[in-house]
Amino acid sequence: MVLARAGFADILVANEIVERLDLDLIAAAARLAALTVVVDHPIQVARISSTASSSGVRIGVLIDVDPGLGRTGVAFDSPEVVELARAIARCDSLVFRGIQAYEGHVVLQRDPEVRRVMSWQVARLIEAAISNLQRAGFDCELISGGGTGTIQPAISAGVLTEIQAGSYVLMDTTYADIGLELEQAVFGVATVISRRSASSAAINAGTKSMNTDKGMPRVLTAGARLVGMGDEHGRLALDRTANLDVGDRVLLVPSHLDPTVNLHDVLLVESHGDLAVWRIDGRRMYMEEEV
Ligand SMILES: Cc1ncc(COP(=O)(O)O)c(C=O)c1O
Repeated sequence: MVLARAGFADILVANEIVERLDLDLIAAAARLAALTVVVDHPIQVARISSTASSSGVRIGVLIDVDPGLGRTGVAFDSPEVVELARAIARCDSLVFRGIQAYEGHVVLQRDPEVRRVMSWQVARLIEAAISNLQRAGFDCELISGGGTGTIQPAISAGVLTEIQAGSYVLMDTTYADIGLELEQAVFGVATVISRRSASSAAINAGTKSMNTDKGMPRVLTAGARLVGMGDEHGRLALDRTANLDVGDRVLLVPSHLDPTVNLHDVLLVESHGDLAVWRIDGRRMYMEEEV
């Protein structure tokens, strides 16, 4: 909805939509932009199609194919792929557009050669699903997949028409640690609020401001390391080189970007010395929408 209101003309919601609130949101967004969703079950097709027809909109649909992640998606060689395409084609309010195959099991592989080979294998599975659809009379104009860790290998594997990378925009330590040469662009700013010993300090940032499911955020101050986080506090281990006192600020690099950004209402954006405040509009969507 945020993207549609901001004027983006062609939007993919790379997820299965089932709940009433979500269905109403995508129908509202489809009045403003060309909207596409993904499905892996006939119940989703039925709900999206009935919401689209009662709202007087048409919604594009991709079949979600599982390339080995094991999260959502039908098996690439299952007859369900063609059955779902037929179910979509029977609905006047839906437009069959192609396939999504998100290779989330590949994007964080540490070895670039493993990422390259696995992305290539995924592309061949996608090709098999495309051929089955073609034989049944369905052409795929949109084939969407890949992620930040596989931008290059997924392009080289040669089957996708669109890469679904997201984290590349701001980056995090988890992606930096697999050697991606993308610049880090988002940081948490925290203040040292206590320094009770030579080897430790406390900062005013905890798990309410930085997500830790992929490990502790990295501290960009020489000699300082985050070793624990509570709700409101972070515990720094300091070596002799760390020159930090109460009131000093430290920069923190998130280990996992998406859930960290989602904890905040705004981003402070610095450009050539000027600071701007950007609202994170996707938060509180349900509270602000009258759906
Ligand atoms: C379906 C799908 N596509 C794309 C992405 C983007 O991945 P990344 O942020 O790693 O580029 C995700 C991330 O979870 C996803 O679930």
